[in-house]
Amino acid sequence: MLYIGLKHLHTTVATLTVLLFILRGGWMVAGSAMLQRKWVKIVPHVIDTTLLVTAFAVAWIGWRYPVVLHDWITAKVVALVVYIVLGIIALKRGRTATIRVTAFFAALVVYAYIVMVALYKTPLPI
Ligand code: HEM
Repeated sequence: MLYIGLKHLHTTVATLTVLLFILRGGWMVAGSAMLQRKWVKIVPHVIDTTLLVTAFAVAWIGWRYPVVLHDWITAKVVALVVYIVLGIIALKRGRTATIRVTAFFAALVVYAYIVMVALYKTPLPI
């Protein structure tokens, strides 16, 4: 089944993206030169692009989104943008260590929210 396969790929890359984010956050705090490695700069883009493509593929095939709007999917799209922006602040743009670390943990909270929205299929999964 195409849909099941895509959903598995989606959840796999969703897991990989946060694992890599945590790893890079650790390297950032440690001031590691690993962050400058070529593969460390390229692989996250490949994973994040796959995440986006599979996200919109399952959204379309399974839920006919965005022709048929579902508030929980829209919440995931918005939250993903927030997660990406916080990730950029945490790993690149944050001017002080405090800003970077705060953005890092805020990104993890937003990530947890996205997973909860995926599981409960409501924008307020509390
Ligand atoms: C960091 C970002 C994301 C994470 C961690 C994530 C996580 C997940 C997880 C864990 C599932 C499986 C839910 C289940 O088995 O019940 C899922 C499914 C799904 N996700 Fe995502 N997702 C992300 C981004 C997105 C985005 C941006 C979209 C919208 C385009 C999206 C759309 C979907 C859809 C439509 C499903 C299938 C729901 C179903 O039919 O059960 N995801 N996601």
